[in-house]
Amino acid sequence: MYKVLGIESSCDETAASVVAFSGMENGAPKAEVLANTVYTQHQEHLDYGGVVPEIAARAHVDKVGPIVTTCLKEAGLELSDIDAFAATSGPGLLGGLLVGVSYAKTLAMVTGKPYIGVNHLEGHALTCKLTNNTPMPYLLLLVSGGHCQFIHVREVGDYETIGGTLDDAVGEAFDKVAKLMGLGYPGGPIIEKHAEKGDPKAYKLPIPLKDKGIDFSFSGLKTAARQLVMEHEAEGKDLDEKTLNDICASFQETVAQTLTIKSRRALQSLPKVKHFVLAGGVAANKMLRGRLEKVCTVLDVTFSAPPLNLCTDNAVMVAYAGGLRLINDEKSPLSSHATPRWPLEDMKPPQRPMKGQSS
Ligand code: KG4
Ligand code: ZN
Repeated sequence: MYKVLGIESSCDETAASVVAFSGMENGAPKAEVLANTVYTQHQEHLDYGGVVPEIAARAHVDKVGPIVTTCLKEAGLELSDIDAFAATSGPGLLGGLLVGVSYAKTLAMVTGKPYIGVNHLEGHALTCKLTNNTPMPYLLLLVSGGHCQFIHVREVGDYETIGGTLDDAVGEAFDKVAKLMGLGYPGGPIIEKHAEKGDPKAYKLPIPLKDKGIDFSFSGLKTAARQLVMEHEAEGKDLDEKTLNDICASFQETVAQTLTIKSRRALQSLPKVKHFVLAGGVAANKMLRGRLEKVCTVLDVTFSAPPLNLCTDNAVMVAYAGGLRLINDEKSPLSSHATPRWPLEDMKPPQRPMKGQSS
């Protein structure tokens, strides 16, 4: 058995986790989560309606040490029990990445154990292998604050993006719409709560690129939501609770329709693929999960999504993806870098040069 400690700090979560690997089961390494500790910086960014990179980096510096200590305690382990240290080394906000990467490298150095730089998107992409044992190949819909893309996952390390957003990520659209209604940050869970009490048919919002392809566009939807709010205000009306709930429900409904239309089309473009995975922070939305599951049932494709706490950023996915790479002896040199841009297609053992490496 070997135990990997993972650190996540690419955005506004400071997280640490220990995952233990032992032998093989159904053709995949058997893995068990021993600890999962997450500090969410929502309070720090609340007043700004989005993540402020400088504030995020400083919060990671403050929290990474205590979070790693808590994580080891939760796992009932000493530092010396850990066999390898993994950290998200990209993509993400450089200031935050550098904190996690430097911390993991330091732990690797003082213990003489390997360090593994992990691609955050690969972490999201592989979580369902750990939690649901989803067989590959599968079609992944990765929906988060920074990403919205369809990825054909053939095997670990073999990824092809077959469609994606032309402008905003879907999580970003949730966050921006919540901000313009003064609802706080992050917008996704808040809009979901209001939507539960609203009428999804109250307002008709546009579905850009509805009849065409598998790419997304969310900026028009965001603008339409803004216009609704402005029209309401121009009439001298307050954004009362009912209106707020109805706008949230209509927005969420339009996102659901967009994702289902595109997912159906994406699955039909890959007739040999029989498994669908929904991952990333927006995958925590229960209504969206339900809608996409229905599409899969109709197309006779299995649907999986990680448990809600492993949809949003966490370090379980980092320790797990790092462990899978370690199995192939893919350690990263301590001289390897954090890289803010790191498309999944460029996934290679981190020893080789990566496109877009900038620091
Ligand atoms: O994966 P994640 O934690 O961080 C990134 O890698 O971006 O995703 C965060 C995003 C935010 O935009 C947040 O509003 C959205 O996921 N989100 C949700 C829900 N929970 C988080 N969106 C819709 N419904 C939710 N329940
Ligand atoms: Zn993420």
